[in-house]
Amino acid sequence: MEATYQYITQRLEEHILTITINREDKMNALNITLLKEIKNVVNNAQSNPDIHGIILTGKGTKAFAAGADIAEFAKFTVEEGTTMSRDGHSVMNTIENSSIPIIAAVNGFALGGGCELAMACHMRYASSNAKFGQPEVNLGVPPGYGGTQRLVELVGKGKALELLMTADVVNADDALTLGLVNKVVEQEELLAACHKVLKKISTKSPRAIAKVINCVTDYFDTNKNGMETEILEFGSSFESKDFVNGTNAFLNKERPNFRD
Ligand code: COA
Repeated sequence: MEATYQYITQRLEEHILTITINREDKMNALNITLLKEIKNVVNNAQSNPDIHGIILTGKGTKAFAAGADIAEFAKFTVEEGTTMSRDGHSVMNTIENSSIPIIAAVNGFALGGGCELAMACHMRYASSNAKFGQPEVNLGVPPGYGGTQRLVELVGKGKALELLMTADVVNADDALTLGLVNKVVEQEELLAACHKVLKKISTKSPRAIAKVINCVTDYFDTNKNGMETEILEFGSSFESKDFVNGTNAFLNKERPNFRD
Protein backbone atom coordinates (compact mmCIF):
# COMPACT_ATOMS: atom_id res chain seq x y z
CA MET A 1 0.00 0.00 0.00
CA GLU A 2 3.07 2.26 -0.28
CA ALA A 3 2.24 3.77 -3.65
CA THR A 4 0.36 7.02 -3.55
CA TYR A 5 -1.85 8.11 -6.37
CA GLN A 6 -3.04 11.46 -7.64
CA TYR A 7 -6.69 10.68 -8.31
CA ILE A 8 -7.61 7.70 -6.15
CA THR A 9 -7.28 6.71 -2.53
CA GLN A 10 -6.98 3.22 -1.07
CA ARG A 11 -7.96 1.75 2.26
CA LEU A 12 -7.44 -1.84 3.37
CA GLU A 13 -9.78 -2.99 6.11
CA GLU A 14 -10.31 -6.59 7.17
CA HIS A 15 -8.70 -7.78 3.91
CA ILE A 16 -11.09 -5.75 1.78
CA LEU A 17 -9.46 -3.01 -0.30
CA THR A 18 -11.60 0.06 -0.98
CA ILE A 19 -10.49 2.13 -3.98
CA THR A 20 -12.11 5.57 -3.98
CA ILE A 21 -12.14 7.81 -7.04
CA ASN A 22 -11.09 11.13 -5.59
CA ARG A 23 -12.21 13.94 -7.93
CA GLU A 24 -15.34 15.03 -6.16
CA ASP A 25 -15.22 18.57 -7.62
CA LYS A 26 -15.36 17.05 -11.13
CA MET A 27 -18.05 14.49 -10.36
CA ASN A 28 -15.25 11.91 -10.20
CA ALA A 29 -14.78 12.14 -13.98
CA LEU A 30 -12.34 9.55 -15.24
CA ASN A 31 -9.26 11.05 -16.78
CA ILE A 32 -6.64 8.85 -18.40
CA THR A 33 -4.18 8.96 -15.48
CA LEU A 34 -6.94 8.05 -13.05
CA LEU A 35 -7.88 4.95 -15.06
CA LYS A 36 -4.23 3.90 -15.19
CA GLU A 37 -4.08 4.26 -11.42
CA ILE A 38 -7.08 1.97 -10.97
CA LYS A 39 -5.54 -0.58 -13.33
CA ASN A 40 -2.28 -0.48 -11.44
CA VAL A 41 -3.94 -1.02 -8.06
CA VAL A 42 -6.09 -3.88 -9.34
CA ASN A 43 -3.06 -5.57 -10.92
CA ASN A 44 -1.01 -5.21 -7.73
CA ALA A 45 -3.85 -6.46 -5.53
CA GLN A 46 -3.89 -9.77 -7.31
CA SER A 47 -0.45 -10.68 -6.03
CA ASN A 48 -1.23 -9.51 -2.50
CA PRO A 49 -2.61 -12.38 -0.40
CA ASP A 50 -3.80 -9.86 2.20
CA ILE A 51 -6.47 -8.59 -0.19
CA HIS A 52 -9.54 -10.82 -0.47
CA GLY A 53 -11.90 -8.46 -2.26
CA ILE A 54 -12.07 -4.97 -3.76
CA ILE A 55 -14.70 -2.25 -3.50
CA LEU A 56 -14.60 0.48 -6.14
CA THR A 57 -16.47 3.66 -5.28
CA GLY A 58 -16.53 7.43 -5.77
CA LYS A 59 -15.80 10.18 -3.26
CA GLY A 60 -18.75 12.12 -1.91
CA THR A 61 -22.48 11.62 -2.14
CA LYS A 62 -23.22 12.74 -5.71
CA ALA A 63 -21.20 10.68 -8.15
CA PHE A 64 -19.59 7.30 -8.61
CA ALA A 65 -18.13 8.70 -11.84
CA ALA A 66 -19.87 11.03 -14.31
CA GLY A 67 -17.99 9.62 -17.27
CA ALA A 68 -14.71 10.03 -19.05
CA ASP A 69 -13.19 13.47 -18.61
CA ILE A 70 -14.84 15.46 -21.40
CA ALA A 71 -12.44 18.39 -20.96
CA GLU A 72 -9.51 16.04 -21.48
CA PHE A 73 -10.71 14.32 -24.67
CA ALA A 74 -12.63 17.19 -26.34
CA LYS A 75 -9.71 18.09 -28.60
CA PHE A 76 -8.43 14.56 -29.31
CA THR A 77 -7.58 13.42 -32.85
CA VAL A 78 -8.83 10.15 -34.36
CA GLU A 79 -5.57 8.47 -33.29
CA GLU A 80 -5.80 9.82 -29.73
CA GLY A 81 -9.47 8.84 -29.50
CA THR A 82 -8.69 5.32 -30.67
CA THR A 83 -5.84 5.01 -28.17
CA MET A 84 -8.07 6.38 -25.40
CA SER A 85 -10.67 3.72 -26.14
CA ARG A 86 -8.16 0.89 -26.49
CA ASP A 87 -6.44 1.82 -23.23
CA GLY A 88 -9.82 2.19 -21.51
CA HIS A 89 -10.80 -1.28 -22.70
CA SER A 90 -7.59 -2.61 -21.22
CA VAL A 91 -8.48 -1.09 -17.82
CA MET A 92 -12.00 -2.53 -17.92
CA ASN A 93 -10.68 -5.95 -18.98
CA THR A 94 -8.19 -5.91 -16.11
CA ILE A 95 -11.07 -5.35 -13.70
CA GLU A 96 -13.32 -7.94 -15.35
CA ASN A 97 -10.55 -10.56 -15.39
CA SER A 98 -9.37 -9.89 -11.83
CA SER A 99 -9.00 -13.13 -9.88
CA ILE A 100 -10.10 -11.18 -6.79
CA PRO A 101 -13.80 -10.24 -6.75
CA ILE A 102 -14.48 -6.56 -7.41
CA ILE A 103 -17.75 -4.87 -6.52
CA ALA A 104 -18.77 -1.40 -7.65
CA ALA A 105 -20.33 0.63 -4.84
CA VAL A 106 -22.28 3.05 -7.02
CA ASN A 107 -22.92 6.04 -4.78
CA GLY A 108 -24.46 8.48 -7.27
CA PHE A 109 -24.14 9.23 -10.99
CA ALA A 110 -22.63 6.41 -13.04
CA LEU A 111 -22.72 7.94 -16.49
CA GLY A 112 -20.80 7.09 -19.64
CA GLY A 113 -17.39 5.76 -18.62
CA GLY A 114 -18.64 5.64 -15.02
CA CYS A 115 -21.40 3.23 -15.98
CA GLU A 116 -18.89 1.26 -18.06
CA LEU A 117 -16.51 1.08 -15.11
CA ALA A 118 -19.30 -0.21 -12.87
CA MET A 119 -20.31 -2.76 -15.51
CA ALA A 120 -16.75 -4.10 -15.73
CA CYS A 121 -16.90 -4.99 -12.02
CA HIS A 122 -18.16 -8.44 -11.01
CA MET A 123 -21.13 -7.03 -9.13
CA ARG A 124 -22.80 -3.66 -8.60
CA TYR A 125 -24.45 -2.43 -5.42
CA ALA A 126 -26.15 0.96 -5.72
CA SER A 127 -27.23 3.62 -3.27
CA SER A 128 -30.87 4.66 -3.66
CA ASN A 129 -29.79 7.96 -5.28
CA ALA A 130 -27.64 6.26 -7.93
CA LYS A 131 -28.31 7.03 -11.58
CA PHE A 132 -27.08 5.09 -14.58
CA GLY A 133 -26.82 6.02 -18.23
CA GLN A 134 -24.76 6.09 -21.40
CA PRO A 135 -25.21 9.67 -22.64
CA GLU A 136 -22.30 9.58 -25.13
CA VAL A 137 -24.57 10.11 -28.15
CA ASN A 138 -25.18 13.61 -26.77
CA LEU A 139 -21.45 14.22 -27.30
CA GLY A 140 -21.27 12.78 -30.81
CA VAL A 141 -19.65 9.47 -29.91
CA PRO A 142 -20.78 5.96 -29.00
CA PRO A 143 -19.52 4.57 -25.66
CA GLY A 144 -15.82 3.70 -25.86
CA TYR A 145 -15.03 1.71 -22.73
CA GLY A 146 -17.05 -1.42 -23.50
CA GLY A 147 -20.51 0.02 -22.83
CA THR A 148 -22.07 -1.21 -26.06
CA GLN A 149 -21.04 -4.74 -25.16
CA ARG A 150 -21.43 -5.02 -21.40
CA LEU A 151 -24.80 -3.26 -21.32
CA VAL A 152 -26.13 -5.86 -23.79
CA GLU A 153 -24.71 -8.61 -21.57
CA LEU A 154 -26.40 -7.24 -18.47
CA VAL A 155 -29.77 -5.98 -19.68
CA GLY A 156 -30.28 -7.59 -23.12
CA LYS A 157 -30.11 -6.17 -26.64
CA GLY A 158 -33.45 -4.37 -26.83
CA LYS A 159 -33.13 -2.41 -23.60
CA ALA A 160 -29.44 -1.76 -24.20
CA LEU A 161 -30.14 -0.25 -27.61
CA GLU A 162 -32.89 1.88 -26.09
CA LEU A 163 -30.63 3.24 -23.34
CA LEU A 164 -27.68 3.72 -25.71
CA MET A 165 -29.75 5.55 -28.34
CA THR A 166 -31.96 7.68 -26.08
CA ALA A 167 -29.22 8.49 -23.54
CA ASP A 168 -31.94 8.02 -20.91
CA VAL A 169 -30.79 7.92 -17.31
CA VAL A 170 -32.29 5.22 -15.08
CA ASN A 171 -32.61 5.38 -11.32
CA ALA A 172 -31.39 2.72 -8.91
CA ASP A 173 -34.69 0.85 -8.61
CA ASP A 174 -35.08 0.66 -12.39
CA ALA A 175 -31.46 -0.45 -12.69
CA LEU A 176 -32.25 -3.25 -10.23
CA THR A 177 -35.29 -4.33 -12.25
CA LEU A 178 -33.18 -4.33 -15.41
CA GLY A 179 -30.45 -6.47 -13.85
CA LEU A 180 -27.93 -3.67 -14.14
CA VAL A 181 -27.36 -3.72 -10.38
CA ASN A 182 -27.45 -6.55 -7.85
CA LYS A 183 -28.82 -4.63 -4.89
CA VAL A 184 -30.02 -1.18 -3.82
CA VAL A 185 -29.39 0.16 -0.31
CA GLU A 186 -29.40 3.54 1.39
CA GLN A 187 -26.22 5.53 0.80
CA GLU A 188 -25.03 5.32 4.44
CA GLU A 189 -25.23 1.51 4.21
CA LEU A 190 -23.60 1.11 0.80
CA LEU A 191 -19.98 0.43 1.73
CA ALA A 192 -20.97 -1.82 4.63
CA ALA A 193 -23.23 -3.86 2.34
CA CYS A 194 -20.40 -4.26 -0.20
CA HIS A 195 -17.99 -5.16 2.58
CA LYS A 196 -20.40 -7.77 3.92
CA VAL A 197 -20.88 -9.60 0.63
CA LEU A 198 -17.13 -9.60 -0.08
CA LYS A 199 -16.45 -10.99 3.42
CA LYS A 200 -18.95 -13.75 2.70
CA ILE A 201 -17.24 -14.56 -0.63
CA SER A 202 -13.86 -14.51 1.13
CA THR A 203 -14.90 -17.51 3.23
CA LYS A 204 -15.17 -19.58 0.04
CA SER A 205 -12.26 -21.13 -1.85
CA PRO A 206 -10.31 -18.24 -3.44
CA ARG A 207 -9.08 -20.57 -6.18
CA ALA A 208 -12.63 -21.66 -6.98
CA ILE A 209 -13.80 -18.02 -6.96
CA ALA A 210 -11.07 -17.11 -9.47
CA LYS A 211 -12.16 -20.04 -11.62
CA VAL A 212 -15.81 -18.97 -11.47
CA ILE A 213 -14.80 -15.47 -12.64
CA ASN A 214 -12.74 -16.94 -15.47
CA CYS A 215 -15.50 -19.31 -16.64
CA VAL A 216 -18.24 -16.66 -16.57
CA THR A 217 -16.03 -14.11 -18.32
CA ASP A 218 -15.28 -16.63 -21.06
CA TYR A 219 -19.03 -17.04 -21.72
CA PHE A 220 -18.96 -13.54 -23.20
CA ASP A 221 -15.60 -13.84 -24.98
CA THR A 222 -16.24 -14.86 -28.58
CA ASN A 223 -12.66 -16.11 -28.87
CA LYS A 224 -13.18 -18.55 -26.01
CA ASN A 225 -15.31 -21.62 -25.43
CA GLY A 226 -16.79 -21.12 -21.97
CA MET A 227 -17.96 -24.74 -21.64
CA GLU A 228 -14.42 -25.95 -22.37
CA THR A 229 -13.02 -23.41 -19.91
CA GLU A 230 -15.35 -24.81 -17.26
CA ILE A 231 -14.30 -28.39 -17.94
CA LEU A 232 -10.62 -27.46 -17.61
CA GLU A 233 -11.12 -25.24 -14.54
CA PHE A 234 -13.17 -27.96 -12.85
CA GLY A 235 -10.63 -30.65 -13.65
CA SER A 236 -7.59 -28.66 -12.56
CA SER A 237 -9.24 -28.01 -9.17
CA PHE A 238 -8.68 -31.63 -8.22
CA GLU A 239 -4.99 -30.97 -7.63
CA SER A 240 -5.61 -27.88 -5.50
CA LYS A 241 -5.13 -27.44 -1.76
CA ASP A 242 -8.57 -25.81 -1.60
CA PHE A 243 -10.23 -28.92 -3.01
CA VAL A 244 -8.55 -31.13 -0.40
CA ASN A 245 -9.51 -28.64 2.35
CA GLY A 246 -13.08 -28.24 1.17
CA THR A 247 -13.90 -31.88 0.63
CA ASN A 248 -12.15 -33.02 3.85
CA ALA A 249 -14.00 -30.39 5.86
CA PHE A 250 -17.32 -31.56 4.44
CA LEU A 251 -16.59 -35.23 5.13
CA ASN A 252 -15.42 -34.40 8.68
CA LYS A 253 -18.48 -32.21 9.28
CA GLU A 254 -16.26 -29.14 9.77
CA ARG A 255 -16.18 -25.66 8.27
CA PRO A 256 -13.47 -25.30 5.64
CA ASN A 257 -10.74 -22.72 6.21
CA PHE A 258 -9.22 -21.72 2.90
CA ARG A 259 -7.16 -18.78 4.07
CA ASP A 260 -4.49 -20.36 6.28
N1 COA B 1 -15.99 15.28 -17.61
C1 COA B 1 -15.40 16.39 -17.17
N2 COA B 1 -15.94 17.18 -16.22
C2 COA B 1 -17.12 16.80 -15.71
C3 COA B 1 -17.79 15.65 -16.13
C4 COA B 1 -17.18 14.86 -17.13
N3 COA B 1 -17.73 13.73 -17.59
N4 COA B 1 -18.96 15.55 -15.44
C5 COA B 1 -18.99 16.60 -14.60
N5 COA B 1 -17.89 17.36 -14.78
C6 COA B 1 -17.54 18.60 -14.08
C7 COA B 1 -18.33 19.78 -14.58
O1 COA B 1 -17.77 20.32 -15.76
C8 COA B 1 -18.22 20.71 -13.40
O2 COA B 1 -16.95 21.31 -13.41
P1 COA B 1 -16.77 22.90 -13.07
O3 COA B 1 -17.28 23.04 -11.66
O4 COA B 1 -15.32 23.15 -13.21
O5 COA B 1 -17.63 23.62 -14.06
C9 COA B 1 -18.26 19.77 -12.19
O6 COA B 1 -17.88 18.49 -12.70
C10 COA B 1 -19.63 19.64 -11.57
O7 COA B 1 -20.54 19.23 -12.57
P2 COA B 1 -21.93 19.98 -12.87
O8 COA B 1 -22.34 19.66 -14.26
O9 COA B 1 -21.82 21.44 -12.51
O10 COA B 1 -22.89 19.26 -11.81
P3 COA B 1 -24.45 19.04 -11.90
O11 COA B 1 -24.86 18.53 -10.57
O12 COA B 1 -25.13 20.26 -12.44
O13 COA B 1 -24.65 17.89 -13.00
C11 COA B 1 -24.14 15.78 -14.09
C12 COA B 1 -24.14 16.57 -12.77
C13 COA B 1 -23.44 14.46 -13.81
C14 COA B 1 -25.57 15.53 -14.56
C15 COA B 1 -23.38 16.58 -15.18
O14 COA B 1 -22.13 16.97 -14.66
C16 COA B 1 -23.14 15.83 -16.47
O15 COA B 1 -24.04 15.68 -17.27
N6 COA B 1 -21.88 15.36 -16.67
C17 COA B 1 -21.48 14.74 -17.91
C18 COA B 1 -22.09 13.37 -18.09
C19 COA B 1 -21.63 12.75 -19.39
O16 COA B 1 -21.97 13.18 -20.48
N7 COA B 1 -20.84 11.69 -19.28
C20 COA B 1 -20.36 10.96 -20.40
C21 COA B 1 -18.96 11.34 -20.68
S1 COA B 1 -18.26 10.26 -21.93
